Amino acid sequence: MAKRKKIGLIGAGNIGGELARLFANKELGDVWLYDIPAKENFAKGKALDLEQNSSVIGYDSAIRGTANWADLEGADVLVITAGIPRKPGQSRDDLVATNLPIIRDVAINAKKYCPNAFAIVISNPLDAMVYEYKRVTGCSRDRVAGMAGVLDSARFQLFLAREANVSIKDVRAMVLGGHGDDMVPLLSCTTINGMPVTQFISKEKIDAIVDRTRKGGGEIVNLMGTSAYYAPASSAVAMAESYLLDQRRVLPCAAYLDGEYGYRDLFIGVPVVISGNGVEKIIELPLSENEKAMLAKSAASVQAVVDVVKKTA
Ligand code: LAC
Repeated sequence: MAKRKKIGLIGAGNIGGELARLFANKELGDVWLYDIPAKENFAKGKALDLEQNSSVIGYDSAIRGTANWADLEGADVLVITAGIPRKPGQSRDDLVATNLPIIRDVAINAKKYCPNAFAIVISNPLDAMVYEYKRVTGCSRDRVAGMAGVLDSARFQLFLAREANVSIKDVRAMVLGGHGDDMVPLLSCTTINGMPVTQFISKEKIDAIVDRTRKGGGEIVNLMGTSAYYAPASSAVAMAESYLLDQRRVLPCAAYLDGEYGYRDLFIGVPVVISGNGVEKIIELPLSENEKAMLAKSAASVQAVVDVVKKTA
């Protein structure tokens, strides 16, 4: 008998709840919403609310809350949001000391209970957390990716669509590098239905939009007092869906580089193909000198945080 896929969401906070809603709405599998014992009832309550929602919306996915990793045994996909989100004035890197022991604990349990899961990490500082997940689990690089590029590109696309006054559906962009303030929006890959965006928007306006994109997460933290969750959750679901349905989507994700783009033993955002095999391929684009310099700056920022992580390993 065909079995439903099992989706483990590690962290039942704002992103976790939205992830559960999206996975269930799309009927991509049964969902386990995990949180620590102190938040077990919260996770169970959220799951119950979402299951009751199924009888209004009409989806058959089961949604359960738990604080027991054994319930996640054999999960096909893990999406990891565990850790504290940013508060106003904090950078993503400021979270490293708090979130490092959390990602380590998650990785130890993931290795024990669902070693074959395709893992998508969202916890910040993203590129260092996904690095640590891979290091602790010892998983191969096709099994894990960080969610950042889809979200950063989405923010860039939205601001460009509004400025050009065209449909969001026709704007495509590619934002590479680390998930930080020096991420690298590639203008050579940014088009409005195939037409260069520079035909529609002036250089000055594009520069201002790039700046807003780089600070796109912080803008929301300053407004809400906590991190964004709708667009981050949708971005991770796009990655998971490509894996679960073998869509082979080409998405910018934090992937483990082993020489690609001139970097080794580092996760940063690059275009990848996500298939039923996980991160099946890293696409190497020819970059301009300026883009290479921006990527080097971004990679150096990520490396600095990873070095902190490695020191305490
Ligand atoms: C953001 C968080 C999810 O960029 O990193 O909103």
